[in-house]
Amino acid sequence: MTNSAPVSARRDLADAPLLAAARGETPRHTPVWFMRQAGRSLPEYRKVREGVPMLQSCLTPDLVCEITAQPVRRHGVDAAILFSDIVLPLHAAGIGLDIVAGTGPVVAEPVRTAADVAALPQLAPEQVGAVGDAIGLLLAELGRTPLIGFAGAPFTLASYLVEGGPSRNHERTKALMHSEPRTWHALLEKLADTTLTFLQVQLAAGVDALQLFDSWAGALSLRDYREFVLPHSRRIFESLTEWDVPKIHFGVGTGELLGAMRSAGADVVGVDWRIPLDTAAQRLRDAEPGRDAPVVQGNLDPAVLFAGWDAVEREVRRILAEGEAAGGHIFNLGHGVLPSTDPTVLTRVVELVHSITRR
Ligand code: CP3
Repeated sequence: MTNSAPVSARRDLADAPLLAAARGETPRHTPVWFMRQAGRSLPEYRKVREGVPMLQSCLTPDLVCEITAQPVRRHGVDAAILFSDIVLPLHAAGIGLDIVAGTGPVVAEPVRTAADVAALPQLAPEQVGAVGDAIGLLLAELGRTPLIGFAGAPFTLASYLVEGGPSRNHERTKALMHSEPRTWHALLEKLADTTLTFLQVQLAAGVDALQLFDSWAGALSLRDYREFVLPHSRRIFESLTEWDVPKIHFGVGTGELLGAMRSAGADVVGVDWRIPLDTAAQRLRDAEPGRDAPVVQGNLDPAVLFAGWDAVEREVRRILAEGEAAGGHIFNLGHGVLPSTDPTVLTRVVELVHSITRR
């Protein structure tokens, strides 16, 4: 796929707070969006998803458009994130897997040997054509709200494929990495290609920013991350440098990996609640002293949304102060919205962030 032709289709949203903040400029207010803002916390989501399996809904353009737009309408967030899933491109490529409610992705035949890796199918762009179609609908629907595209990073995808489903300890994944490094790197190379294809389809269709989710990378030591993961994630970012859109890199429990994750080629680093944003930014500066000031995204603990408004407000104010000290800041949770979250609290968080930071 070429990177040049469809760029003119991209909307000019230069003054959108999300994009200004991601470029290190001063936005008119601190932008705020929430990972998993589209989903089960919203009754309007549960209604339209009734009877439609998750992966099927991700390949139904008008449903993707509706679900993606729901939290923008309801909360007034500064960005939409495409309704999809990190395992969608694997499914679209023909790998047998399902998303089981309450569990997550479950893989029919886990990938554990060199022969399994060699047999893995690669994603062709037309297999996710429906995602490009959905993005086309969304650009018309969203007006001046930026649309964030995303994909799973190779390590997090590999963990699902090797373990066969969600894993607490990632033991089979780490065993493969350490016992058969050549097979491991071959697997991550294939997954990086699939992720790249999925992101290029989204970029060609016109997404305004993208986020690479390496949700479970925090399970790794910095040494193992650098050796077994970083080269593959870096290849993804480097292959996308021609696309002039902000690129966000996020993982959970990655306090020790933040510098390495930025060095992969990210403009913005997502941070969970375990580390204050100003400390995170200092680590990013220390890791790459020659680079521009870092921009961080985060990092309200999603569980705090259950603690009553006084606690939520206190935490939002603390995070905004730490974000101010960090330099550039995009407000978000430290991980996804939990399904039983009261959505009215999310709307109040958006209003609070905007009212405190309006310039
Ligand atoms: O609003 C958004 O953030 C966009 C949609 C989105 C989904 N998945 C929709 C979804 C995004 C960005 C993802 C990414 C994703 N998927 C990640 C990375 C983000 C993270 O949470 O760290 C991961 C690890 C997955 C894998 C996955 N898919 C899990 C763990 C689950 C949850 C299983 C469950 O039921 O608790 C899914 C399913 C999923 N993806 C749902 C949604 C809305 C729930 C499915 C449903 O509503 O039936």
